[in-house]
Formats: sequence, C-alpha cells, structure tokens
Amino acid sequence: MKIGNINIKHPLFLAPMSGVTDQPFRIICKKFGASVVYTEFVSADGIIRENVKTLNMVKFEEMERPIGVQIFGNDPDTVCDSAFSIYSKFKPDIIDINFGCPVPKVTKKGGGSAALKNLKLMQEIAEKTVKAVPDIPVTVKMRAGWDYNNIIIKDAGVLLEESGIKAITLHARTSKQMYKGEANWELIGDLKNTVKNIPIIGNGDITSVDDYKKITEISNCDGVMIGRGCLGNPWIFRDILNFLKSNEIKKTTMNEIIETCNEHVYLLKKFKNDKVVINLSKKHLSYYLKGFKDSSLYRKEVMRSETIEEIEKVIANII
Ligand SMILES: Cc1cc2nc3c(=O)[nH]c(=O)nc-3n(C[C@H](O)[C@H](O)[C@H](O)COP(=O)(O)O)c2cc1C
Repeated sequence: MKIGNINIKHPLFLAPMSGVTDQPFRIICKKFGASVVYTEFVSADGIIRENVKTLNMVKFEEMERPIGVQIFGNDPDTVCDSAFSIYSKFKPDIIDINFGCPVPKVTKKGGGSAALKNLKLMQEIAEKTVKAVPDIPVTVKMRAGWDYNNIIIKDAGVLLEESGIKAITLHARTSKQMYKGEANWELIGDLKNTVKNIPIIGNGDITSVDDYKKITEISNCDGVMIGRGCLGNPWIFRDILNFLKSNEIKKTTMNEIIETCNEHVYLLKKFKNDKVVINLSKKHLSYYLKGFKDSSLYRKEVMRSETIEEIEKVIANII
C-alpha cells in the first residue's frame, strides 16, 4: 500500500488520540507493529502563534517514521500556513487534516467535524493544504457526516480525491454520535466503492484480530486505524501482523505486560516532567493492569502512588 510516494509496510495505523498518542505511546505501538503513527491533533492557530506546548506535541524521533502530524482549524489560510510551518520545522512524512473531531469546543469555531456541514470549506482547506506542502502527502481523517440524515461520504470522498488528498481515514460514526453506538463499517465500504484511486483506511471499534477480519471483509478497506483498542494492548498490532503472516496469534505473556509497563514509564521519564510522568503512568497502567490475577489490586496501588518510584515499585512487585 502507498500513500502518495510513501510505501506503507503493513496496513496498520495508530489513530491520533489527544492526550494519548504522545511520543512514548507512539514508540511502543511502533515497536509492536503499527506501520504509521499519528501525533495528537494540534491546533493550526497554535502552530502559527508558535505556542511552545503545541510545537512540542509535533516533536518525534526518526524511528517513528512514517509519521503523520494531524492539524485542525477552521480557516483555510491558517491551516495551510500551519502545514507549511510544520513541514519546514519538523519534516514529518504526512500531514493529516482533522475533519472528524466532534467536540463542541472545536466544532463551534468551525473546526474538526464542522467541515462535514460545509463541504466548500472542507474543499478549500484540503486544496490549500495540499498546495502548501507539495513534497509530502496530505491525508484526511473524517466522520461519515454530521448526523445520520446528512451522510456526506460520497460527496466528500470525490471532492477530497479531486483536491489532491492522498488517503482518507473514515471513523464510521457521525459527529452527533460522538462515541456512542457501534461504528457502521458498511459506510467505509461505501467510501471505498466511491473513491477508487487513493487508499481508504477504516476506523472505529477494532479491538481484536476478529474485528480486523470483519472490517476488511465488510468494507474492503486498504488499511485499518486502531485507537482505543490499543490502549493497554499495543500487542493488537503484533497480533494482526501475525495473523496476516502466518495465521497464528501469540498470547501476550505476563512478562511482556510487565516489560511494557516498565518501558512506558521509562519513555515518559525521558520526555516529560515528573508530574506528567505520574499522571500519564497512572492513565496507561490502569489499562495495562487488567484481566490477570490481582490486577485490580495493583491498579489501586498505582492510583494511590504519589511518586514515580512508588509506581515503579508496584510494577516490580507484580508476580
Ligand atoms: C482519548 C481520545 C482522543 C482522541 N483524539 C483524537 C484526535 O486528536 N484526532 C482525531 O482525529 N481523532 C481523535 N480521536 C478519535 C480516534 O482517533 C478514533 O477515530 C476513534 O476513537 C474511533 O476509533 P477506535 O474505536 O479505534 O477508538 C480520539 C479518541 C479518543 C478516545
């Protein structure tokens, strides 16, 4: 599979997730087989204003490549200028435009999934951004429409392809749904049947190899993007890869869980300050420490911890 001129080794993408897909988590998912990873979404305005926090969210290591930086915004000139600025400063492999965020704070200002109600704006943002970064592919991540009475997959698909977008990820829900109900993978099939010349990446509710099989059967999508399904389970990428290569799935061992907890805390310490390390360790460990004997006790101990050392001690004591 190719996105523009980039060869994608395996059709497995880590979804952009605000507050989650920072460098440590991306590195871990990459290690377990995510072919392409994305940053958390960054505000086009923040990039233009050179907000330090926003710029820090774009930083990545060479081993993360191919990596996409995702931007959101409502003004075509700001979005395209921010894409150019990101390209000039960081040289990512892909710029991705967010047309999927349903959060009112973003959509009220016309950003994220608000573009699903204004295809002219969507087109202008896409066209200008493609022109601003001619050396790398621009992709789009979107939802199926604002609500079920306004599914715009086919119109948006044609228009985005014409605008020079090099791949579309469809989170198969509407904006109104937020995260409720099931993702409707048939909608991804509708997009795939409409848009013939660029890859379509299916997203929404993939939490197992079985889901991978089903979504690809139902939609014939070229690749899949996994979000919540890899929280505490980055091995999902390895499991799907193993299924694709040999049809065999390796069970995650207790040692691997402990090693990954340690590595995650180590990477957090490498990139973040102590307070953030503690908060993010608690967040991620509460996902890793599930489904084995006494896991809820370890989880509680992590939550009670006040220092990084205490958290590391809990991990060291897991039997
Ligand atoms: C905590 C969280 C943060 C998210 N942040 C983003 C984001 O920054 N950009 C984006 O396009 N989607 C974002 N999403 C949506 C996911 O990328 C994905 O489309 C959605 O969760 C459905 O896929 P899943 O069922 O595999 O999680 C976020 C989702 C979650 C749960």
